[in-house]
Amino acid sequence: MDTTGTHAIDTLDDLRRHLQWAIELEHATIPPYMCALYSLDPERNGEAVHVVGSVLAEEMLHLALAANLLNAVGGRPELDTPRLLPAYPHPLPHGDRSVEVHLAPFGPQALDLFLRIEQPASADAPPQSDQYQTIGQFYAAIEAGIGRLCTELGEAEVFCGDPERQIGAFHLRGGGGQVIAVHDLKSAMAALAEIIEQGEGAARTDVWDGDHDVFHPEREEVAHYYRFQELRLGRRYRTGDTPQSGPTGEQITVDFDGVLPMRHNPRITDYPHDSAIRVAQEEFNHTYSTLLHLLERAFNGSPSLMRVATGMMYALRAQAKALMSMPTGDGQTNAGPTFEYVPPERRHWSTGNSRRITLLENGPYLVYGQIPLRRKKKIVSEEGQSLTWQTHEDIPTEETYALCRCGRSGAKPFCDGSHARPDSEGKPFDGTEAPNMRPYAELQHIHDGEGISAHRVGELCIHAAFCIGRTRPIAKMLDDSGDPDVRSHIMGLIDHCPSGSYAYSLSRDTETIEADLQPAISVLEEENGLASALWVTGRVPVERSDGQPVEARNRMTLCRCGHSSNKPLCDGTHRQIGFHE
Ligand code: FES
Repeated sequence: MDTTGTHAIDTLDDLRRHLQWAIELEHATIPPYMCALYSLDPERNGEAVHVVGSVLAEEMLHLALAANLLNAVGGRPELDTPRLLPAYPHPLPHGDRSVEVHLAPFGPQALDLFLRIEQPASADAPPQSDQYQTIGQFYAAIEAGIGRLCTELGEAEVFCGDPERQIGAFHLRGGGGQVIAVHDLKSAMAALAEIIEQGEGAARTDVWDGDHDVFHPEREEVAHYYRFQELRLGRRYRTGDTPQSGPTGEQITVDFDGVLPMRHNPRITDYPHDSAIRVAQEEFNHTYSTLLHLLERAFNGSPSLMRVATGMMYALRAQAKALMSMPTGDGQTNAGPTFEYVPPERRHWSTGNSRRITLLENGPYLVYGQIPLRRKKKIVSEEGQSLTWQTHEDIPTEETYALCRCGRSGAKPFCDGSHARPDSEGKPFDGTEAPNMRPYAELQHIHDGEGISAHRVGELCIHAAFCIGRTRPIAKMLDDSGDPDVRSHIMGLIDHCPSGSYAYSLSRDTETIEADLQPAISVLEEENGLASALWVTGRVPVERSDGQPVEARNRMTLCRCGHSSNKPLCDGTHRQIGFHE
């Protein structure tokens, strides 16, 4: 381990390096815990599902707390990196190198691994400068380092990070424990204590972690190490028990046969290209690498993406369980997720910070490049005739943000992860996209008037009704377009068509004339509070979830009610279903 002096942490850079290691260490527990959890049959192993599931939720919290600590001291958390997914088995990073981390189904062997990972430090174990036997010692070194740097440099110098980058309780829900925003020595120590106590127990000599069980609030919660020990020994800890006494409470039933027989440490290269298992493993790896990408963005200035990232856990569970039900053909084992890193250039969509909108499969629109977001309201006449659009609110955004595509979010227009949760019929959002449309120029019908030609693609219409004048539609007005007043009126109506279903040119063979629209996304509201599409202007590129581009146009409308038959484009169905925010 790379250290620079007598202590492990002598400088702010040492501290930042250790906190990045903390992220890597916390993350290292997630793939094996996921494999164990998803291999369990909940009908036969309810208690084990509860224990492993609650520990996994807490590891997600620890990851966020480690990122909060690193951000607080001016660091930049890295998660979208192959370092987080070395080949299995591999030694526990930055911990006891003799602990080999495996991917395996739930069972005695997995529990023994988890017990070694969560092994408490003995009460008098000193923080070590160059190697850590336990996670507790590692965090003790960080605690000592932060304290020393605050004494030497002053708290303000150490906690120099941007408070806007902190993950708060609002961003991470789900019962993993206390989300602590870190901005000074006191909050840093509280965050570290939460990580250590959930893992090892309060005061490092106690089996209890100081919290209450999420699912059974009447019970005090046992720290991770002791929760796994309860499963291993088949008995629950009760008041008065100590690490020395072991658990003496009620018996717990663990059915080691009620487990899907996932093959240990699977690799995609175990299977031929295009085989069903390999395709499913590659899909899982793509989703998991997307999760790392979202977490990295969430920890680097876009904390609201945390809700999209946690929603992705549902998709991962479904994909992992599907894999664990696929026999490998050896007569004994089933397939499993391989947790292999997919580099950004091999993912379905483009990378970097360029201005664009990317669809997540069955998920939200991810908006990159700080595209301005605002609300626009349709102004209508007394008779209900569409007149114009009025911008009435600029919506503040984070650097990268996610817009709801399913219509279910409680934080519209932003995504809050609801797409991943089952609806009243028990189903997550089906965001299946329609086949990519042919280009506008191929689909258009052209109607000629005098001095103007109207172009139209019916498939793009969202029924915003600007093409219907008070007494007659555009198609009829063209008959009188020799009158410049009528011609100008037609041009104005077409300019207000948000989807660009209608466009115009001066004659059939000349270029269409477009209004000078800036790159922006407008959240539309039509008459009587009817919530409508996302109006994307200024040729902002839109990428489908398979990486294919939607034809870039000066204006287009994207569905946000979740019901269009022409996803991702709006087809006006929001009107039929009476979509409201
Ligand atoms: S917003 Fe969904 S169809 Fe228009």
